[in-house]
Amino acid sequence: MSKIDYSQKIPNNVDLKSDKRLQRALERWQPGYIEWWKEAGPTDFNENDIYLRTAVSVERDGWAHFEHVKMPDYRWGIFLTPHEKEAMIGFGDHLGEPAWQQVPGEYRNWLRRLIVTQADTEPASVEQQRLLGHTAPSLYDMRNLFQVNAEEGRHLWAMVYLLHSYFGKDGREEADELLDRRSGNPDHPRILSTFNEPCEDWLSFFCFTMFTDRDGKYQLLSLAESGFDPLARSCRFILTEEAHHMFVGQTGIARVIRRTCEIMNEHPDSCPSEHGVIPLELIQRYVYFWAASSLDLFGAEVSSNSANFFAAGLKGRAEEPKYEEHTANDQIFEMERWKDDRLVREEIPMRNAMNEVLREAYIADNVKGIEYWNRECAKAGIDFTFRYPHRRFNRSLGEFAGSRFDPEGTPLDEATWAERNTEWLPSEDDKAFVKSLMQQVTEPGRFAAWIAPPARGINSQSVDFEYVKL
Ligand SMILES: [Fe+2]
Ligand SMILES: [Fe+2]
Repeated sequence: MSKIDYSQKIPNNVDLKSDKRLQRALERWQPGYIEWWKEAGPTDFNENDIYLRTAVSVERDGWAHFEHVKMPDYRWGIFLTPHEKEAMIGFGDHLGEPAWQQVPGEYRNWLRRLIVTQADTEPASVEQQRLLGHTAPSLYDMRNLFQVNAEEGRHLWAMVYLLHSYFGKDGREEADELLDRRSGNPDHPRILSTFNEPCEDWLSFFCFTMFTDRDGKYQLLSLAESGFDPLARSCRFILTEEAHHMFVGQTGIARVIRRTCEIMNEHPDSCPSEHGVIPLELIQRYVYFWAASSLDLFGAEVSSNSANFFAAGLKGRAEEPKYEEHTANDQIFEMERWKDDRLVREEIPMRNAMNEVLREAYIADNVKGIEYWNRECAKAGIDFTFRYPHRRFNRSLGEFAGSRFDPEGTPLDEATWAERNTEWLPSEDDKAFVKSLMQQVTEPGRFAAWIAPPARGINSQSVDFEYVKL
């Protein structure tokens, strides 16, 4: 078993104690991190005991340990999956060469940029979610929120380790800036726009963990293929933790749907909102909003950066070994483009279409999640079908930004959009209604009226276990 050394101030499996310089640098960064957590992390729950999982090994089985801990005492640390003997670069122009154990000089800036962009999302999401503990619909849900937050904190640690360890002075400066930017701060925002969106209610939180954390999964899958071996190994272990975050979103929305369907069956002749649950159409509008916003995170449809990152062997495709060919030279990708307000089909060199390749894999994964929600409706005998928006809908970045499309992808003129967009996107009234339902429930085993209990508890504990000791 590749165990993590917890005797150290910074738990790790990278033998930090034999690199005194790095150890000192990270120990200098640590107080700033704890300060950031207390100032920008979850409000007011730092004195409570929370039933959290902590990574104790990086093997697939038995990697996690569960116990009640106070969040500021969480053992954040640096855990990479073990070295593979003779790791090779799996794609691009350096295909088949030994993976880099040091930063390749010619790609230093690109690599730093990839790492900083990934790193910035981790603390950003914690900031976005910082008030949600106060309105948690149960102790089970509150615990899941804090678990996600604590692990996003650890993902920041994973990226900061890379910056400190491999990028010298400018790496240290970048690491400091990661603690300075703030989600939604107009003067000093987080790098990507979705990570500056407010996440003020639990319906948004579940959409975020469903769609935005899943973007994280796909970015991490593509970085887990990186020819820069320490980055690949960091990302592989982060993915182990990330699965739970998407579970929180997937099952969270499913439970909201289940509760609404129950009420619809009990009161078939009135609007579910009159009975304190969230109408399915309203859930759909939240889904459209967060799904579209998260699609932006993959970047422009046609991108020379994506071509460069792939050619250099820095960022591959998700599960690159599944592809038959790994240089993507002389291949084309056919895509629909938006030119002079018209859709035209074009052939793009595959390397320039890598953002779109990744986005497609991500969409297919989301669609499975939507089908899971539709089975909830079907089980309850409710005739309602949730939909995933077309990739052109409500985009703020890339080819389709600035133009109007409905959720099926049909182009619209501005007047039609103005008239109809509240059918598809949450209105101020929707948001106010959802917020009006958000009230903290603190009795173990009890759940707010708008959400069904989960099928089972965490780590084989019962649903009425005291996940948070208030
Ligand atoms: Fe993360
Ligand atoms: Fe996550």
